[in-house]
Formats: sequence, structure tokens, C-alpha cells
Amino acid sequence: MKPMRIALLGAGTVASGVVRVLRRNQDELCRRAGRGIEVVAVAARNAQKARRSIGDDLALTDDFRGLATRDDVDIVAELMGGIEPARELVLAAIQAGKHVVTANKALLALHGNEIFAAAQASGVMVAFEAAVAGGIPIIKALREGLAANRIEWVAGIINGTTNFILSSMRDRGVDFATALAEAQRLGYAEADPGFDIDGVDAAHKITLLCAIAFGVPVQFARAHVQGIRDLDTADIRYAEQLGYRIKLLAMTRRSEQGIELRVHPTLIPATRLVANVEGAMNAVVVQGDAVGPALFYGKGAGSEPTASSVIADLVDITRLHTADPGHRVPHLAFQPGALADTPILDMPLVRTSYYLRIRVRDEVGVLAEITRILADCGMSIDALLQRPSADHDEHTDVILLTHETLEQRMDEALARIQGLDTVLAPVVRLRKEELR
Ligand code: HSE
Repeated sequence: MKPMRIALLGAGTVASGVVRVLRRNQDELCRRAGRGIEVVAVAARNAQKARRSIGDDLALTDDFRGLATRDDVDIVAELMGGIEPARELVLAAIQAGKHVVTANKALLALHGNEIFAAAQASGVMVAFEAAVAGGIPIIKALREGLAANRIEWVAGIINGTTNFILSSMRDRGVDFATALAEAQRLGYAEADPGFDIDGVDAAHKITLLCAIAFGVPVQFARAHVQGIRDLDTADIRYAEQLGYRIKLLAMTRRSEQGIELRVHPTLIPATRLVANVEGAMNAVVVQGDAVGPALFYGKGAGSEPTASSVIADLVDITRLHTADPGHRVPHLAFQPGALADTPILDMPLVRTSYYLRIRVRDEVGVLAEITRILADCGMSIDALLQRPSADHDEHTDVILLTHETLEQRMDEALARIQGLDTVLAPVVRLRKEELR
């Protein structure tokens, strides 16, 4: 049988991994897919750089659109990243009847609904395993392996750069800026690491997981996104003393009122497996009603781990491309006509528990005032620590863990606590998840 013909758009780190792994494992891949999978050409802006990345023997072009729509191409693998021209090229490929594989989480988080609708209309597949958690096959697991379940929540450490930074802050007690500089030196963080450290990259990924977990459209604009830029090493230390680790957790959960979709630094009990995911590794926990908790762990980035997911998609499409489009696995796991309009909840309606650090003047009655406000707002305290301030004899840090409450109640309590004249600095508020 004729091999499946692939066009690669982009010749960077992921493309080089795809070329290498396709070559190295070509016999096994052919045995798995039923036919060969062959790269016909690569589109790249800088030919010299591309040659260094993918070698000398593949055809190279700078005509991205021409390659994406070429007659002899079956699948277009978009490995360029960014929104434009990736969006326009993916849509052109779909219109030309090509199947698409993409590793581009930002593109799908922002324009997934448009792209999946276009693919549906053209009867082609758009596969995106590599867009979430690099080499971990979490899309396939959620969409197919866990299809029996009513998914209750999905929680992930899905940004390796921030996890590396948090691990360094905890292990060596360094501050955020030092840990970030080290991540940059080791090549984990981008020169402009904003998407990583501000939580945007993780939010792109959890937005996609949310859509396929609950069968709702892709809604990045509704996600609550908070990064780790302002995290203080002191809070990592206090959390540890209370039995917790701080992770940049991406979370999506179904409740009676709607769906939570949020990324923020989060305290997780140190005894949970996911709390022990260190360095640049990724992990996703899925809670299904039948399976219970299922943990997926692995490399979330890198040339060959990401290529592993891209090639799995190429094999899938090779196996399925002759199937009737109506009988393929739906892009977002649920039939396109059966997507739900369950609302994504605003943060005040989210229920979670909290860590608070309150810098106060160390005098009679201060703690009583704070606990009175929490009680007035219907909040119950779970644990309490008091630690002297490092820089002032008469100041002290009160650290509190609360039981679960509505975020709007916490907002109300914090506004009152912040107004006390014994409270000397902005209160640090972090969310906490038990992940039971
Ligand atoms: N920048 C991402 C991370 C890698 O740090 O995990 C690819 O998504």
C-alpha cells in the first residue's frame, strides 16, 4: 500500500523529533499503521536552521500555504506554534481536504471551535495529542480510554517550566527570580517566559481538557488564570510545615452550578502522588465516577516526547482516514451536535479551601478579630500557625488554613480583614485542593 504522505509545517525542536522518530521506528510504525508514514516536505522560514534541525535529505520549502494544500499531501502536521499564520494555514489545509495534526495549544484554546467546525464540514480529522502535556497521551485517555465515565474533575501540573521553578524554590529555598533565571539558563523557560509563569500555557491546556472531559465548547476566555510570579518562598515553607506542597495546578471540575476552569498556585497535600511531581515533569489526575482517580505522568515537553504524541496522531489518522467521518472519534470526545452549554463558573462561585498569610501587629486580640470575621462569613478554620516576622520584632505572620467555602465569602472576609488597622500588609491568599 502507498505510504501516508505528511507535510511538516515548521522545522523546530518538535519537527526534528518527528523526523528522527519516524525514521528510527519506521518498520514498527508500518506494522502498527498498516502502511508507511512518510514526510514529503518540510516548510520552514530559515533554510539553514531547518537543515541543521531535520538533516539534508528532506525536501524543504518556504511556501507554507503551497505545501499545506499540495495535492500529494494526506496529513498536514502544524508544528510552528503561535496563532497566525498557523490558524490560516490549518484552515487552508482543512479546506483542501487534508487531515491536520497540531501541537498548538494556544491556537486550539483560542480558535478550536472554528477549526473543529471547519474540519467537521470538510470531513477531515484534526488531532492534537501533542498540544496537552507533551508526551503524556492524556487526550486519548480522556476521550477514549475513559469514555465509560462521567468525569468529575481533571487536575494537572501541565507546565514544566513553572513546576521546575517551584521545585527549585522548595528544594533550595531560592526566590522566584533566582529560580526563573536558572530555568532560563537550563533552557526550560523561554527568553520571554510570560506564557509559562503567568499560567497562560497551562490555561490553554486545561481549556482543551475541560472541553473533552465535559463535552462543552472550548472557552479559554472564561478561564481564571493566575501564575506564580508573586509567589513568596516563605509561603512554600509554611505550606510545607502544614503538610502541603504548592503547585501551579490547572483544574476543571463539574459542580451543580456549572464548570470550574482555573489555573493558580495551589496547596496540595504532600501525601498525594501528584504533589510529588518534581522538576519539569507533568502529571494529570482524572477523577471518573467508574475508574476513580487515574494518574498520568511523564514528560510534558521536549523534542521526542512531543514527537511521540504527534506520531501517535499520525498513526491514528492513517488507521482511520477511510472510515466514514460520522463514525470517527469526535474531536471533542462528544458528538458535535451533543455539546452541552453548561456555564463556566465565575470565580466567586467556585468552592475551595484556602491558605491565608496575614502580617499583623503582635498584640492582644488580633487573632480573635481575624477568627471572628472568618466565623461571621461562615468559614471554618482547619489549621493555624504563627511565625515571628523575620524583619520586625513586633510583627508576626498568622498562617491559616480554612475548610471549603465559596470564593465570594472569602472575598468578603478578606476585604474586612484587610481593613483592620492591625493588619500590616496585603494578605496572601492561596487556594488549596485536597484532590480526594
Ligand atoms: N512551555 C511548556 C512547559 C512546554 O513549560 O511545559 C510545552 O507546552
